[in-house]
Amino acid sequence: MGKEIRFGVIGAAYMGKAYAIALSSVSTIFELPVRARLEMIATTDAKGAEKKAGAFGFARSTGDWRKLVADPDVDVVGIGSPTWLHKEMALAAIAAGKPVLCEKPLSLSARDAHDMALAAERAEVKTLVGFNYMRNPATQLAKQMIEAGEIGDVIHFRGTHNEDYLMDPSSPMNWRLKAKYASRAGALGDLASHIVNLAHYLCGPIVEVVGESQTVHKARPAEGGVLEPVENDDQTNFLAKFMSGALGAFEASRIAAGRKMGLTYEVTGTKGALFFDQERLSELQFYSAGDASNRRGYRTLLIGPEHPDYGSFCIGAGHGFGYNDMIVVEMKDMILGVTEGKPLWPTFRDAVHTASVVDAVLRSQDERRWVKISEIVGELS
Ligand SMILES: NC(=O)c1ccc[n+]([C@@H]2O[C@H](COP(=O)([O-])OP(=O)(O)OC[C@H]3O[C@@H](n4cnc5c(N)ncnc54)[C@H](O)[C@@H]3O)[C@@H](O)[C@H]2O)c1
Repeated sequence: MGKEIRFGVIGAAYMGKAYAIALSSVSTIFELPVRARLEMIATTDAKGAEKKAGAFGFARSTGDWRKLVADPDVDVVGIGSPTWLHKEMALAAIAAGKPVLCEKPLSLSARDAHDMALAAERAEVKTLVGFNYMRNPATQLAKQMIEAGEIGDVIHFRGTHNEDYLMDPSSPMNWRLKAKYASRAGALGDLASHIVNLAHYLCGPIVEVVGESQTVHKARPAEGGVLEPVENDDQTNFLAKFMSGALGAFEASRIAAGRKMGLTYEVTGTKGALFFDQERLSELQFYSAGDASNRRGYRTLLIGPEHPDYGSFCIGAGHGFGYNDMIVVEMKDMILGVTEGKPLWPTFRDAVHTASVVDAVLRSQDERRWVKISEIVGELS
């Protein structure tokens, strides 16, 4: 590896670009033992990949992701391709002994996630899943405050991930709407998985769920304007019980008018509460029942250099933090995990929990009952 850690990235759209932005700046923002190098990018065609390599700053490109995985000058593989391709690509990288950063949702099912986690464990390959929202300094602060007992015992988690990017019924068909490419979990797999992962991070594992999902726009225009069926949900609601005994309520939607990035959570404890809204991602709201009774109310904690990771970006408090900054933190963690053995979270194994919760909600809605996560996990081994 020498003085550089060389990344190969598969996919050059939304996430491929986010990875390139993060890799370009991570070594400037953080003091790292090695510099990140944008070694190679892969897409579906060689010409397109070459163009993206030029735009994003990668040294080389390929139209064949297998060449990227096998290349001796690629140390770490980043997977930002559509979800149905994650398993095959990650297993190939693991077989080549290369650490993998893979986008969420990790796979199409808990079964696939389990196979991927097992392969990585057997090969002793480091893994990380791109559930980047927990890397926000505000959420890292929330975790510290919960662990320090500042809101007492956690009794409730409420999480939402609502967006409206598919609220127009004439929005064209795409891979995210097909079971084969994105599973039967639509907003449930794409969006609720983020909030389930955050709940896991802040409140521990979930043990049981009951839920209901719905496809509101049942067909969308494919090529030539022909209507094709939508094969997964537009919106989902579910209740959960945590191992700690706390209760949870979750909702996710891709057709929630007016919500652009409506990822929010509220963690309620016996002595206070925390509230976060991704549309105001530099703020954490804190309510303390310990305040004088005539001064009680949610107050805004504005993140600054004393909160995790912020100070590496900027020494001034309150200057803000952004979506791409969370991915820079993710890259920093990945690099330290690979070079110094720093524990990574969420690994493929941690993402098996998220995938199991998603599968349990699917089963709950099919069978109209509460489903234990252990029921899903029990079928994996
Ligand atoms: N963590 C986040 O915040 C976040 C945000 C958006 C998307 N995602 C996840 O990232 C993944 C990709 O999403 P996207 O929106 O970038 O998808 P997209 O469909 O817009 O782009 C996918 C990219 O993968 C490439 N690709 C497709 N098939 C390929 C193949 N066989 N070989 C090489 N490259 C191939 C395409 O050329 C394209 O560049 C999904 O799993 C999605 O859930 C995560």
